[in-house]
Amino acid sequence: MTDSLLAPETTVRDIAARLPGAAQIFRDADISFCCGGALSLADAADKAGLDLAALTARLQALIDSAGHDAPQETPVLIAHILERYHAAHRHELDFLVQLANRVESVHGDHDEAPLGLTEVLLALRDDLDQHMTKEESVLFPAMLQGAGALLAQPVDVMTREHAVTAELLHQVEHVTHGLVLPEGACGSWTALYTGLRKLCDDVVAHVHLEETVLFPRALAA
Ligand SMILES: [Fe+2]
Ligand SMILES: [Fe+2]
Repeated sequence: MTDSLLAPETTVRDIAARLPGAAQIFRDADISFCCGGALSLADAADKAGLDLAALTARLQALIDSAGHDAPQETPVLIAHILERYHAAHRHELDFLVQLANRVESVHGDHDEAPLGLTEVLLALRDDLDQHMTKEESVLFPAMLQGAGALLAQPVDVMTREHAVTAELLHQVEHVTHGLVLPEGACGSWTALYTGLRKLCDDVVAHVHLEETVLFPRALAA
């Protein structure tokens, strides 16, 4: 059965923000989820000359496999999230902020320069750091103590914060013109967009894992 996220009228922007791996499928098919992101899945498929049912089936396969290899035990799952996502985002953002700054200063007068990217990445770094610190210091320890349904309200707050993060990812997509490199881009610019693609994909996977596996499991404990 097709997931409701993949209804023909859902926007590609929404799907890219919520489903790990969808961004890559859209990039490969030349479907923009930045400025053209308000397009529905049906319209985007039509515009790209793709069969809607086939595209939906590829996206459904991602939903079916997402979270499949998530550790069963909550403490192991939390340790995995901390190491694979929290630590990785912090490490990569420090490096990407510096790289963005360099590309903006050296190529600022290029037509396709990612103007404003450093500022967006600084906002994303702050946003993620504050959010992850709350999970690390309050929410995850409470989950490990089995606080269960008592966590409904903090989980709700974290979920709303995830939506703010998704908006910042959208801004990254916007100022980089969909992370498409210009002809003859230098090594720094190429490394920057490669790193950003990985970071954005990781953040979507991180949020998806929390919202579809960890949070429901912890609330039911
Ligand atoms: Fe997290
Ligand atoms: Fe989170």
